[in-house]
Amino acid sequence: MKLTDHEQAMLQGDHGPAKARAMDLLLRYGRALGAERLVEVRNVAGTWNAGSPALRPYADESMDRLFSKFNLDSDEVVETPQAEVYTCQLIHGIDTRNNRLMGVPDEAADYQRRAEAFFGRRGVSMFNTCTPYQVGNVPVKGEHCAWMESSAVVYCNAVLGARTNTEGRESTGAASLTGRIPYWGFHVPENRLGTHVLEAEPEVRGIMEWGLFGYHAGEAVGEDIPVLTGRLHQPGLIDLKHFGAAGASSGGIEMYHIPGTTPEAPGLEAALRPGAHERLVYTAADRQRAWENLNHSASSDDVDFVMLGCPHNAIEQVWTAAKLLDGRRVHENTELWIFTPRALKDTADLNGYTEVIERAGGHLLSDTCPAIGRVVPKGTRTVATDSAKQAHYLPAIMGVGCHFGSVAQCVEAAITGRWRGGLA
Ligand code: F3S
Repeated sequence: MKLTDHEQAMLQGDHGPAKARAMDLLLRYGRALGAERLVEVRNVAGTWNAGSPALRPYADESMDRLFSKFNLDSDEVVETPQAEVYTCQLIHGIDTRNNRLMGVPDEAADYQRRAEAFFGRRGVSMFNTCTPYQVGNVPVKGEHCAWMESSAVVYCNAVLGARTNTEGRESTGAASLTGRIPYWGFHVPENRLGTHVLEAEPEVRGIMEWGLFGYHAGEAVGEDIPVLTGRLHQPGLIDLKHFGAAGASSGGIEMYHIPGTTPEAPGLEAALRPGAHERLVYTAADRQRAWENLNHSASSDDVDFVMLGCPHNAIEQVWTAAKLLDGRRVHENTELWIFTPRALKDTADLNGYTEVIERAGGHLLSDTCPAIGRVVPKGTRTVATDSAKQAHYLPAIMGVGCHFGSVAQCVEAAITGRWRGGLA
């Protein structure tokens, strides 16, 4: 790979051993990908956690050991320097303020707190969310980034027009120290153009419909790039957050376009790759099939657990849930957990939403989610959720049945303990 003088100097160790290890990793990674050079990045979103059992023995030796091994892929222990570029922590496995409620031991939460203190002081902003774009990390069109987390990556590429591949813990660790990532995949402009036109026949409006459409889109195009047309009601942040998360779960969508809405699609032609592209139609039958696929795992209508906030809820969604719960009571056999970024949890506390949710018997949580933390309330057999992504993963990860529906249907399930949702 071709290196600049500065990159060569980092590789040689002129800027310290950690950056040398980081450059070594990036070169190995870049060569494996067939990249010819690196590209400058100023925005990194990855993970620097320590709470899981596999990581704790390394943290016991030292946080530098943990960082070297898992963020730099280095058996040589190097001192962890300050991040070189703006860097944030994505979602991880533990809500350290509610670990007991979630059945996570104090010891695990203590490891996580230690990691947050250590890496926070070295420039990793502890946003602790899969939606950093909801709490101030909003890269601009054309900006090269190094992000992990499939739902964040597709939002970054498609909605913001910034450029990232789906990175890993090691590559984001190295990018944070060097401000570099291999130039390939979605960093290259021609790789960002649409491969399929996907026309919606049923109206796509609201979170549930965008989730169903995303779930179908992922199955229809796999890892390709759909250009969405048809009966699309003007989407907002929350709709597109759910569309992307669903499409990255049933398939591997990392980029899509909506002519007239997303920044790299001023029109249909401009969004499409020149030459052959396939035209697909999302029909009423496809919508029905997506809904059935997301609900097939549930064998009982008795709901033990209602989960909202995948991807992490916007403050507007927390407000909506609070209004639906106000003056009501969650069923005695049902748990209600709502997840939002920590910064928005603080806003919800100030706004009084948390109090309303808790008075109803629900809980507002942050930093993690059931799929990432691998935790559901004890004894859970059946879950209800408004998230296609969570409904896709929880049956496989936790062995539970899932109902997928609207926020209102999920809140009704929390209040009554019964699932009565369905397609309108
Ligand atoms: Fe975020 Fe967890 Fe969903 S990482 S997108 S809340 S599965």
